[in-house]
Amino acid sequence: MKNTDANKELKQLVGKAAAAEVQDGMVCGLGTGSTVVFMVEELGRRVKEENLKIVGVPTSFQTKLLCSQLNIPTMEIQDCSYLDLAIDGADEVDPELNLIKGGGAAHTREKIVVAMAKKFIVIVDETKLVQRLGEKFAVPVEIIPSALKFITQTLIQLGGEPQLRMGVRKDGPVITDNGQMLLDVRFPATVNLKEIDRILHNTPGVIETGLFFNMAQEVLVGTAATQQVTRLSKN
Ligand code: 5RP
Repeated sequence: MKNTDANKELKQLVGKAAAAEVQDGMVCGLGTGSTVVFMVEELGRRVKEENLKIVGVPTSFQTKLLCSQLNIPTMEIQDCSYLDLAIDGADEVDPELNLIKGGGAAHTREKIVVAMAKKFIVIVDETKLVQRLGEKFAVPVEIIPSALKFITQTLIQLGGEPQLRMGVRKDGPVITDNGQMLLDVRFPATVNLKEIDRILHNTPGVIETGLFFNMAQEVLVGTAATQQVTRLSKN
């Protein structure tokens, strides 16, 4: 499970740096999570103080609410087919800039938004960097509730240890903004996650996985020792 309170200063640092990449006239996908909150707050400041003209495309109710509080104009995902830029956090980033996302249960909408965007910038603090996806974080899989038992069994056969994500201060499972449920799946280091991802995309009842292969062009990393932003780019 992710810790939204950790490394606030570093999250703020990368959030501000990413907001500086947004230019007048852009339609910009806005991810979800505690790092994204800092980025959206900075965009709100730029809209108010610099008269920045943008349209945000929020990936969750949380982000949409924040945009509304900050007077950032928004469009719904279903009204878009192309975005200039998408900015989002991540739970893990590997050396090839592949990601695990979905700690905030928003990865399905986040993946749609990223797929539509000309460029995808990821914002993380340095604790999110790993050598291998799945090192620290389980892989979130959004599923249709009626397929819960079937997909749980499929995941166990694939070598995974699925756990239904449960609500905090709410009895029962987490229900996503799409009205669905989530399995958080631990896999042993020996499995090929690309192959698992391919199989899951062919499994009825699976909506989307939190595995983002070859989607990020740039990762902004907040580094504690220097209190600076390091840029990792896809060659
Ligand atoms: C939401 C996500 C988030 O981007 C991810 O969980 C990182 O969040 P945070 O910035 O709070 O650490 O994928 O579904």
